[in-house]
Amino acid sequence: MHVLIACEYSQIVSAAFSAKGHEVLSCDLLPGELGLPHYQGNVFDLDLKSFDLMIAFPPCTYLAKAQMFRYSLEPGRIEKRDKAVAFVHRLFHSGTPQVAIENPVGYLNNNWRKPTDILYPHNFGSPYHKEICLWLKNLPPLMRGPYYSGKRKHMANHVNSRMSQALKSKIKSKFFPEVAKAMAAQWS
Ligand SMILES: C[S@@+](CC[C@H](N)C(=O)[O-])C[C@H]1O[C@@H](n2cnc3c(N)ncnc32)[C@H](O)[C@@H]1O
Repeated sequence: MHVLIACEYSQIVSAAFSAKGHEVLSCDLLPGELGLPHYQGNVFDLDLKSFDLMIAFPPCTYLAKAQMFRYSLEPGRIEKRDKAVAFVHRLFHSGTPQVAIENPVGYLNNNWRKPTDILYPHNFGSPYHKEICLWLKNLPPLMRGPYYSGKRKHMANHVNSRMSQALKSKIKSKFFPEVAKAMAAQWS
């Protein structure tokens, strides 16, 4: 399959699909981290209809539940949120036959549509805890397993107050290799 992993700099999902023998391209404004094929630029520069499957991790800065309290504090934030929603819509309706959009719980859930699936990395063998929503087009929800029953970690444990906001966001937005493996195994 010809697979696009959109808004992915870590190339974690790209690596999982590449290991299954797929032709994979990741795309992000940032450089790719693992040296796999990568387009560094705007995802809409690409011909999205030419891919069989797109998995996208659009920015959640203006969409996540945790950020909603800021709306009344920051001027211009509502416009930025609406732009972020339009970005998601454009990806979902890009004409790629199979699409998965990932985002945390937030504005999209109540103002676009309910997610097709809500999952947790520990249900796939990862020690991390995070609530992950997936909006799926022509893809089945992921089957869970193996279950991680040890002490859970949070990506936020890897950031500290001396880091820039950009670095903190980058670290906290990294995806989980165990869930990536399940995607590659079940959506191939
Ligand atoms: C929430 S992070 C996702 C990170 C991803 N989970 C990973 O493991 O690499 C969102 C990413 O979208 C990228 N991005 C924002 N606008 C973009 C655009 N127009 N085209 C491509 N990537 C974009 C950002 O640079 C950022 O890395």
